[in-house]
Amino acid sequence: MVGAQWGDEGKGKIVDLLAQKSDVVCRYQGGPNAGHTIVADGETWKLRQMPSGVVSGTRSVIGAGCVVDPQVFVDELDLLAERGVDPSIVVLSGNAHLIMPWHVTIDQASERRLGKLQIGTTRRGIGPAYADKASRIGIRVQDVLDPKILREKIEVALAEKNLWLERIYEAEPFDLEDVWARYAGYAERIAPSVGDVSLLVDQALRAGERVLFEGAQATMLDLDHGTYPFVTSSNPIASGAPTGIGIGPTRIDRVLGVSKAYVTRVGEGPFPSEISGPQQAELRELGGEFGTVTGRERRCGWLDLVALRYAVRVNGITSLALTKLDVLSAFAELPVCVRYRLRDGSETEHFPAHQSDFHHAEPVWETLPGWAQPLDEAASLDDLPASARDYVAFVASALGVPIELVGVGASRDRVLV
Ligand code: IMP
Ligand code: MG
Repeated sequence: MVGAQWGDEGKGKIVDLLAQKSDVVCRYQGGPNAGHTIVADGETWKLRQMPSGVVSGTRSVIGAGCVVDPQVFVDELDLLAERGVDPSIVVLSGNAHLIMPWHVTIDQASERRLGKLQIGTTRRGIGPAYADKASRIGIRVQDVLDPKILREKIEVALAEKNLWLERIYEAEPFDLEDVWARYAGYAERIAPSVGDVSLLVDQALRAGERVLFEGAQATMLDLDHGTYPFVTSSNPIASGAPTGIGIGPTRIDRVLGVSKAYVTRVGEGPFPSEISGPQQAELRELGGEFGTVTGRERRCGWLDLVALRYAVRVNGITSLALTKLDVLSAFAELPVCVRYRLRDGSETEHFPAHQSDFHHAEPVWETLPGWAQPLDEAASLDDLPASARDYVAFVASALGVPIELVGVGASRDRVLV
């Protein structure tokens, strides 16, 4: 399951629903920059690090492709215990990288330095942690299990990081003993969760179990295929799943894309279908479009079929979940972006490969009639007002992909199949 837009598509709810039919749920990339909100049995869960499967007590794994903030991890283990979920359902890859305190400092300081050019990150240290992983000076989950190795690695990292912090970012350096003591202290809490995720998932698949891969962030935030540089530092797209877990790509059977019935985006960067005028604020209020992790206002736009078509392509999406259709009930007319008009006046239904074309792209709208009534009563797709059904059918036919699920309210049971 992958986010087909810029994140916050309501994946938490969909994955929670699917998790109830799954034997294992996997997070394969990202870290505590994710913010999945799930409403189940009257309780609201806001998860950042753990797979959403934990809410339904499903075995949940965090793969090598993830970065882990040990404090957030431990806090979420406690949350599970508090809510009566056995924390031993969580298995964490020893190859996942740890977010260290300097990653958070550098994330914040580098955004400040970028000023107007800032990416608008979640400031949780995600980018700097992945950068160190690629530079091969990262510290992994398995390193905390051995205090001697841990000390050595922190020492090597700090020799460089403290220079950067003091000379480039004018920030306070970190003390080796302090950081070592703190991270060694996590060992006891984390150790019982550490396991061989690649082997576990392989064995589950061999045993005929159902394994769900839960993407965090989304297609347009993909490091390689998103709207660089306004992206996250990992690969949320479907092919990131086998990489981040440690299985082969041939093991994936189906790819479910999750899209809102409109679009939101947090952070900076071009956004062709962004709504101009007061309807943007209206949509934001109606949809509760404020960040789960950061509380930031999300930018809101009408549905963008060009970007969605691209998501279908780069993920190999085989079906779609369309969420928050009920939020559109307030609008008499619903513009949908069906093509982009480029600078030379030509129109295209394919996402531009060049950043400047995307930057200057103007939406070409087709306006569909709204339904102007709440969807609270609908118990099946057939119960939806005709224009709501037409809206869904329009999207499916434009993308050439069936729409399998439609979200019509916040709670777990407000998803029509
Ligand atoms: P980072 O992932 O914190 O480095 O932030 C990079 C970009 O990804 C920023 O535009 C963030 O707002 C965006 N981003 C990261 N995680 C999420 C998410 O879970 N939902 C929506 N946007 C996200
Ligand atoms: Mg979110």
